[in-house]
Amino acid sequence: MTAKRIVLAAFAILFSIGCLTASAGGWSVATIDRLPDTVAVNQPVSVGFTVLAHGRTPVKDEKISAYAVNRKTGTTVEFTGRQLKAGSFEVELNFPEAGRWRWVISCYGSHPMPDIRVEADTASELRTHSAATRGERLFIAKGCVRCHQNDRLDYRGRPAGIDGPDLTRYRADRDFISRWLKDPAATRNNALMPDLDLSEQEIDALVAYLNSGPVDSPD
Ligand code: HEC
Repeated sequence: MTAKRIVLAAFAILFSIGCLTASAGGWSVATIDRLPDTVAVNQPVSVGFTVLAHGRTPVKDEKISAYAVNRKTGTTVEFTGRQLKAGSFEVELNFPEAGRWRWVISCYGSHPMPDIRVEADTASELRTHSAATRGERLFIAKGCVRCHQNDRLDYRGRPAGIDGPDLTRYRADRDFISRWLKDPAATRNNALMPDLDLSEQEIDALVAYLNSGPVDSPD
């Protein structure tokens, strides 16, 4: 194996085994503060994360880093971040080449994130996604994938922890889902699902995504 192949193999393992790399005895939910859809080459973007051990307890005294691979060229980069306070982390991303980058956050386990598109310069038109596509990206980046089975996504990192309902064929009234996502505990007593501090726009996108799923045939 050449050195580059070895590095790529190491990344492949990192990306595929997901939760198996979790710190001893733990798994966590990493929730991105704001998901960048597009960034420009060599333009640093700071991304914040909330990391909850077992979906509940703010993670303390943990390192955070991000690894990214350019899907076309195979170039890999690593970024290190820092803890701001318990459960709150920050990583500065800075991509050296244009293209679609696959990336993963490593903090109390590894958390694959939705691809980031890196544009050659800021003058290029920023791509905007439909609400349902934004919702799909948020479903990964907010950590919903950690607790909910969803066969519409190719995600195999779900740890055996809190088992939320399978959302593959889930649909519900938009007002109900909005209320639920805004504050599960206020919607139902003893809710296990954490309040992920989602914005109105994020909730709208997640509702659009959830309600765009497959519908059971009537027979
Ligand atoms: C730490 C685990 C966890 C995370 C993270 C999580 N959920 Fe949940 N979710 C649950 C559990 C458990 C339930 C079942 C109800 C309960 O006990 O809270 C649930 C219930 C739901 C329901 C069903 C509500 C109903 O009764 O109809 C929806 C929809 C949902 N979650 C969406 C999401 C979305 C979208 C995200 C990401 C923004 C998310 N969940 C993140 C654990 C989680």
